[in-house]
Parts: sequence; structure tokens; C-alpha cells
Amino acid sequence: MSDAAPIFRLLDVEKVYQIDRGGWSRLGRRPPRQLAALDGIRLTVRAGDSVALVGESGSGKSTLLRVLLGLTESSDGRALYRGDDIETLTDDKRRSFQRDVAMIYQDARASLNPRLKALDLIGEPIRQHALCRESELRDRVAALLARVGMPADTADRYPGQLSGGQVRRVAIARALASEPKVIVADEAVSGLDVSTQAQLLNLLRGLQHEMGLTLMFITHDLAVASYLCRRIAVMYLGRIVETGPTKEVLRHPLHPYTRALLNASPRFFEPIAETLPGEIPSPIDLPPGCRFAGRCPRAAQDCRTHEPPLATTHTKREVACLHPLID
Ligand SMILES: Nc1ncnc2c1ncn2[C@@H]1O[C@H](COP(=O)(O)OP(=O)(O)OP(=O)(O)O)[C@@H](O)[C@H]1O
Ligand code: SF4
Ligand SMILES: [Mg+2]
Repeated sequence: MSDAAPIFRLLDVEKVYQIDRGGWSRLGRRPPRQLAALDGIRLTVRAGDSVALVGESGSGKSTLLRVLLGLTESSDGRALYRGDDIETLTDDKRRSFQRDVAMIYQDARASLNPRLKALDLIGEPIRQHALCRESELRDRVAALLARVGMPADTADRYPGQLSGGQVRRVAIARALASEPKVIVADEAVSGLDVSTQAQLLNLLRGLQHEMGLTLMFITHDLAVASYLCRRIAVMYLGRIVETGPTKEVLRHPLHPYTRALLNASPRFFEPIAETLPGEIPSPIDLPPGCRFAGRCPRAAQDCRTHEPPLATTHTKREVACLHPLID
């Protein structure tokens, strides 16, 4: 791990959603049902790091990013940006946070106002942070469009007049407009054809190297994670079950869930099949012990009673498993 200063630190972050208000049954009052979308998340992201968050649908990846961005309050624990609690940043620090941390959303088209031209979509963060005069805006937007491989006249087009790949490029140009230090991207290339995905991944990797960006990248695709991110965090039902250098984790997974993901996703650009062996338990009614036990070929008696914490092995890898895949 590098010695660079931590940009983000998540200290035992929990995010609990209340699913209903409870009710009455023959046995009396039933308390409100709750769902822990994040359960004891510990993660440090340092300047210049690139971290992939992977895991099946519903594992809490987007919730984790929403907490990092201050869009969702955590229920417990602390989420820090450069040492300050994200939820209680002062106005000055919040302004620089908003400038420094840019987001590319899971659904790029839905995240862009269809009534604004690309000029105003990309120009919005520039205007918000007063980064240039109005007379210079068009040139600045043209430079950003060039950076993402789009011609300058794209500025006069609305999102509805652009293809899926072009919309993603505009979303990336908009994310770069505030000259951020951190990019947080949720499935930024999924659902596109393979060659467009490859172009956008090259673009993101190039930008990351040129600008020294810190990158947090959610993906269902382990090959994408390995191409773009030095570190990986594997999530399962609200917990990080394994984390470490991407290449090491994918070459020698220690957690049976990481291995199952690898088995389900052997080829480049093939998303993880949503049907790993066994059934994912309901997040509202988790079994005691390890939450992967019902699907784990290595499950032993102790797995059904003890919940394994994320612990460091003697090889300096981090895994939450009582019987990790150590040869
Ligand atoms: N606003 C909400 N209210 C109640 N439950 C929620 C809410 N948002 C998310 N959840 C639940 O929290 C869990 C984690 O959701 P999240 O969107 O973070 O998963 P994800 O890993 O991003 O999934 P995907 O890969 O499908 O995008 C899921 O069980 C989801 O149903
Ligand atoms: S703790 Fe047990 S059930 Fe859970 S992943 Fe490890 S071996 Fe499997
Ligand atoms: Mg998501």
C-alpha cells in the first residue's frame, strides 16, 4: 500500500434502511424490519489509488459510493474525506469537496438534464466553480470534448441526440470539468458494446495516469477491475469480504466468494452472471455466522455460528473468512 495521504476513510460504516413500520401479529407487535445495506465497512483510499468495488447486485456498492459522496448519511461509523467527516463539512470544505470529487453515475443518460445542450451540461461545473469567463466557456468545453474524443460541435447537441457511448463521454467530460482530484464511477462502461467499452476504459486509464486522479470504480466485470484498478474490494451483502492488490486477489483469491465470482466471470467484458451457485440470503433476514455459508463449498460448523471479521493474513492480504483458500 502506498504512503500517500488518505483521501477517504470509512471507519466501521453502517447504513441501515428501514423497510416498513412494523405491525401487529397474533404474537404481538412486530418491530420495523431493517436492511443493512452496509455493515461495518472499513476502507482507506489514498491519493492516486484506483480501487474497484465488485460484487453481485445488492451487495452495497452504490450505497458505499453514496456515503462517500455525502448523498446518503451513514447510520453508524464515520466517513472521512481528508480527515473531516463528510456529513458535517464546513461550507468552504464542502465547496472544495464538490469541486475535487466528481461522479459518473450508473445511468449516465438519466443523470443528464435532457433539456440542456452538452455545452451547458459540461459548462455547469465550470460556471459553478467560476473556473473561466463566460466568453471562454465554449473553448473550454471544446477542449474537454476533445479530451474524451468528441468533436467541438457536440456542444450544441442535446443528450437525446447522442448515442449511449457518446452520452457516457459527455458524462465523463462533465465529471472532468471541475478539474477533480477524485473520480467516483458507478458502472461507467457497462451495457455498451465491447469496442466502446474498450475505448472508454482506455480513456479513463489515460486520464488517470495523466492527471494523477484517484479512482473509485464500481464494476460487475473483474477483467475491467483488473485493467483499471490497482486495488480491489469484493463486497457481499453489505460487507467487504476480501481486499488487496487486484492482480494478487484475482490470481490467488483467498475468499471462496471471490473464487466463485472468478469462476462465474472468466472472460473479458463478460459481466458476472447473476446466478452464482446457491441462493443469496435475504438481506432483511440474515442467517447467523458467515453470510456466505449457505453457498460456500468450504463451510464448516463454526461458519454457521461465527461471523468472520475482515482480518489481515500473514501475507498482508485482507479476508473475512474462517477457512480461507490458503494453500
Ligand atoms: N433507498 C433504499 N431503501 C431501502 N433499501 C435500499 C435503498 N437503497 C438500496 N437499498 C438496498 O440496499 C442494498 C444495497 O443496494 P445497492 O444499490 O448499494 O447495491 P449494488 O451493489 O449497487 O447493486 P447493483 O449492482 O444492482 O447496482 C440492496 O439490498 C438494496 O435493495
Ligand atoms: S467463513 Fe466459512 S462459510 Fe464463510 S466463506 Fe469462509 S469457509 Fe465459507
Ligand atoms: Mg449499484
